Amino acid sequence: MVDKVKSIWMDGQLVPWDDANVHVLTHSFHYGVAAFEGIRAYKRADGKTYVFRLTDHIQRLLDTCRLALMKPTYDLAAIESACVEVLQTNEMADGYLRPLIYMGEGAMGIYAPDNPVKTSVIAWKWGRYLGASAIENGIRAKVSSFSRMHVNISLPKAKMTGQYTNSVLAKREAKLGGYDEAIMLDVNGNVCEGTGENIFVVKKGVLYTPDLSCSVLAGITRDTILRIAREDGIPIIEGRLTREQLWLADEVFLTGTAAEVTPVREVDDRPIGTGQRGEVTKRLQERYFDIVSGSDNRHPEWLTFVH
Ligand SMILES: Cc1ncc(COP(=O)(O)O)c(C=O)c1O
Repeated sequence: MVDKVKSIWMDGQLVPWDDANVHVLTHSFHYGVAAFEGIRAYKRADGKTYVFRLTDHIQRLLDTCRLALMKPTYDLAAIESACVEVLQTNEMADGYLRPLIYMGEGAMGIYAPDNPVKTSVIAWKWGRYLGASAIENGIRAKVSSFSRMHVNISLPKAKMTGQYTNSVLAKREAKLGGYDEAIMLDVNGNVCEGTGENIFVVKKGVLYTPDLSCSVLAGITRDTILRIAREDGIPIIEGRLTREQLWLADEVFLTGTAAEVTPVREVDDRPIGTGQRGEVTKRLQERYFDIVSGSDNRHPEWLTFVH
């Protein structure tokens, strides 16, 4: 359950939590065309709260609108300040932000180009997405029987709500089978990503991840990890990966705003490497957490001050 906070931002107003409702004819509710983001704010070692990579997230939100042919009502600066305002007004030191741009009520039917485009920003407290012990002990993942969308079926670069039925089905299948997360391949068998995370493999000290022409979201945590790895001199190969490369990996980990940097200790019931969190994963995790919530100040451009 999401813990209730005081207010939600809806189209320029702070609305009490219980009044933040939408009409049942809301177009996006029926047809799944809405753009959303997941963003974290952390209290850092200096005792102050910052949103991590806010501009990159809002830019991706607007890119999703562009891909989905939705004309946003608010610009980047206005949505950024709504995010900060929601954290401030709800007095949150740590929080997860969920901006959502959706098509409101008006016409029905698939086309409905003139329905009003609405915007909301919700914040709530969210702990470790894949469980409290996952960051250290890793998770058990299973390759899904559901494929990631082909680029001509949907828009893998868009964070569009309707597309997440693919993730929900894969996640449910994995959880019902006793696993923590699903790993999705594309229709040709290339490894893509988790249901809400990008994926990395470490083999003989080299970091591998699917390149952005694959059916993957251009994850902001993925980009952060690539930047950190480059700074630390870790060789990187972005390209195609197969399931065998997962099974033969020394280390596998997932990245995402919600999942942060989570080791994968098993894929398809096969232990990865030693079956424990690997050295490279640990090093990248430490650097990541030091940037988002610690005292590494090498990337001030990634931090937006809240309070
Ligand atoms: C399908 C999918 N892949 C990857 C990610 C990771 O993206 P990010 O690191 O920007 O949160 C997400 C989360 O937004 C996602 O939903």
